[in-house]
Amino acid sequence: MTVSGKRILLIISGGIAAYKSLDLIRRLRERGASVTPVMTRAAQEFVTPLAVGALAAAHVFTDLFSRTDEQDVGHIRLARDHDLIVVAPATADLMAKIANGLADDLASAVLLARRIPLLVAPAMNPAMWDNAATRRNVATLRADGVHFIGPMAGEMAESGEAGLGRMAEPLEIVAAIAALLDDQPKPLMGKRAIVTSGPTHEPIDPVRYIANRSSGRQGHAIAAALAKLGADVTLVSGPVTIPDPKGVTVIHVERAAEMLAAVTAALPADLAIMVAAVADWRVAEESDRKIKKKPGESAPTLVMAENPDILKTIGHHEQRPRLVIGFAAETNDVLANARVKLDKKGADYIVANDVSPETGIMGGTRNSVKIVSREGVEPWPDMDKDAVAQKLAAFAAEKLNG
Ligand code: C5P
Repeated sequence: MTVSGKRILLIISGGIAAYKSLDLIRRLRERGASVTPVMTRAAQEFVTPLAVGALAAAHVFTDLFSRTDEQDVGHIRLARDHDLIVVAPATADLMAKIANGLADDLASAVLLARRIPLLVAPAMNPAMWDNAATRRNVATLRADGVHFIGPMAGEMAESGEAGLGRMAEPLEIVAAIAALLDDQPKPLMGKRAIVTSGPTHEPIDPVRYIANRSSGRQGHAIAAALAKLGADVTLVSGPVTIPDPKGVTVIHVERAAEMLAAVTAALPADLAIMVAAVADWRVAEESDRKIKKKPGESAPTLVMAENPDILKTIGHHEQRPRLVIGFAAETNDVLANARVKLDKKGADYIVANDVSPETGIMGGTRNSVKIVSREGVEPWPDMDKDAVAQKLAAFAAEKLNG
């Protein structure tokens, strides 16, 4: 996947993350793409047109009513003569304008006149991202086929507040652009996918937790494979040591409750593939200080409480994705257990695998799965986890489109 030779119209709106757009321009150009920058008025408060123009080696368009920029209805031409429009950073304000078809400056007029795909990289304070109005606008944009990369979780530059709102890093945006412009067939273009991956950590006290051996390899590979087929993917990952897949919006969580909240916040979606090895139980009363050994006292007893079942919640949700796929890692009675799970969890398919220690699957790189549905069982040959991911992504595309 490459951006070489692609013509990117980059709209920079007014946020502190605009400084990263300078690096984005550099990264795109060093990979052979050309960049035509458009800046809103507010963007020019954060970075100068001079810096943007110098890095892009191109004229910077700023003004709807400029006699030089608009001599041949420039905003219409700008909206057409490119392969992709990227808005980075995309402020809540500009997203609201796009969602509602406002066109009172050059950036919004270009966006309204567009006939080419649009990728937005939101950046805003977490409270703004969370606001009901922004959520409505995001849902509208998604329904209109707008692609998203981010926002990511992290600390905000201005306030130090943590939460969802940080703009994706330039290289993550480049990967999303490359994925969108890739000439390979894209059967999941315009589809939204949610994938869970990795284990969850359920705290006992501030230093100890209960975990499992899931590496996240299979779930991450599935998220990447769906993105490659054009899906707009949100990956909700428990704590793992492997890198975030490229071209995917990744939300990092620790416990099952956080994973459930992140998954439901990512709805609506066309498909959900729940691969995470979610802990079935958490410690009922987590200690807020480290539990200490005391002479003469016996070992502590951990009282457990049941965790929410994320797959089951999504499988029965009023916004249930059209296609819901779960995994069933079992050490015995693999098929019988998978069949029970189909109904109990409201899934369309269960990918069953035997994780007995002798298989080496859990934490390993290979997988041997069977696809269980109400119609029957389809065993797949032993493959590496990337191959399982690609086959499952193609399978999902076929089920959604066919
Ligand atoms: O019931 P079991 O944990 O074996 O089911 C496995 C499937 O259910 C997987 O798809 C897993 O991601 C999902 N699951 C879940 N939330 C839980 C437990 C399992 O989403 N609390």
